[in-house]
Amino acid sequence: MLQYIRFSTAGESHGKGMLVIVEGVPAGVPLQPIDVARDLARRQLGYGRGGRMAIEKDAGEILSGVRLGETLGSPIAVWIRNRDHANWEVAMSVEPRQGEDDESLRRVFLPRPGHADLVGMLKYDRPDARDILERASARETSARVAAGAVARRFLGELGVSISSHVTRIGPEEAARPVEWPADVNAVADDSELRCLDPAAEERMKRAIDEAREAGDTLGGVFEVTAAGLPVGLGSHVSWDRRLDGRIAGALMSIQAMKGVEIGLGFESARRRGSEVHDEIINDPTSTRTGGFSRTRNHAGGLEGGTTTGELLVARVAMKPLSSLTRPLASVDVRTGTAAEAVRERSDVCAVPAAAVVGEAMVALVLADAAIEKFGGDSIAETRLNLEAFLARSASRIRQPE
Ligand SMILES: Cc1cc2nc3c(=O)[nH]c(=O)nc-3n(C[C@H](O)[C@H](O)[C@H](O)COP(=O)(O)O)c2cc1C
Repeated sequence: MLQYIRFSTAGESHGKGMLVIVEGVPAGVPLQPIDVARDLARRQLGYGRGGRMAIEKDAGEILSGVRLGETLGSPIAVWIRNRDHANWEVAMSVEPRQGEDDESLRRVFLPRPGHADLVGMLKYDRPDARDILERASARETSARVAAGAVARRFLGELGVSISSHVTRIGPEEAARPVEWPADVNAVADDSELRCLDPAAEERMKRAIDEAREAGDTLGGVFEVTAAGLPVGLGSHVSWDRRLDGRIAGALMSIQAMKGVEIGLGFESARRRGSEVHDEIINDPTSTRTGGFSRTRNHAGGLEGGTTTGELLVARVAMKPLSSLTRPLASVDVRTGTAAEAVRERSDVCAVPAAAVVGEAMVALVLADAAIEKFGGDSIAETRLNLEAFLARSASRIRQPE
């Protein structure tokens, strides 16, 4: 889907590690290991995460594409070693293993509902669900977050910043803050659930505790915002250039995401047009929006598949985690007999972590759209092109008499 900034991930959940290669980032973008490590650490936070997070302290190693703290314009490879691999060397061996039993090879014959297990076994003709679940696991999102950290750094050079916060856990919904924080991530990262409403956060924690006691799991909703975007990223001219579709597709590609809203989203279907659309006013001081602004931002920063220059707002619904302590019914694929699915992981809720993954995916799509619009082999060239475009937009505005 991404054309100008592309990335590929490789790796299995309990394999040696995760590798990601990001291509298309211009030269001269400041990038250091801490930029990647910071976001990897943010993905690991969150009330409701279980045991594996304790052993999984991720640190990405930048293998290529960066020299003396700046990108070179060449592919950037990041390697995230799996610290838990030592316990999985037999089960995840690349070489064939003779004489090992099903238990030591950690074979899984009971596909778990809500996971890729069954469809993957049928599609790829694998008798052991481990061949599927190792790659389907959301552990892969660590690689996406590393790629997103690179995209975030590039966007930062263009004055764009990306944040996220959790708005719902199961039945508990957060109220919108009366005063929108200048730095959303600074507030969200201070909260165990990345939530901007402390009262709702307490209720959310209780809901997580109750779900844990019942051997159950919870999903929720998070919101990703991008501030400082210029007008004109994306396009109305063709379906696959519309930025709303590109953002929604990228967010839906995250494991367990079941819905995406832009701006007012589903609520806009319930209202009249006059209560939905954002009226246009002259605002010569606002160059990012082309010298116009809006009375409000129900559109969530996108009209006609193109950025308006207002805050970009995307909300994402995550289903409850599929692995429950209370196992769900399944079938033993060897015998066809009914049995309980095995439990693979122990988290109760991963919405705060998913929000950080959402930031990464939005950053990658926006970085792609920025290069599509402004090009540039060096960050200086990209920035000049952006400034020239904004100056041209500003010069076209006629002031009222
Ligand atoms: C950050 C993150 C962490 C996750 N952790 C777990 C987990 O611990 N246990 C689990 O069952 N599912 C977890 N999931 C969700 C599964 O990966 C997902 O439900 C599964 O791949 C099937 O999703 P799909 O039906 O959308 O493809 C997590 C998802 C994300 C984004």
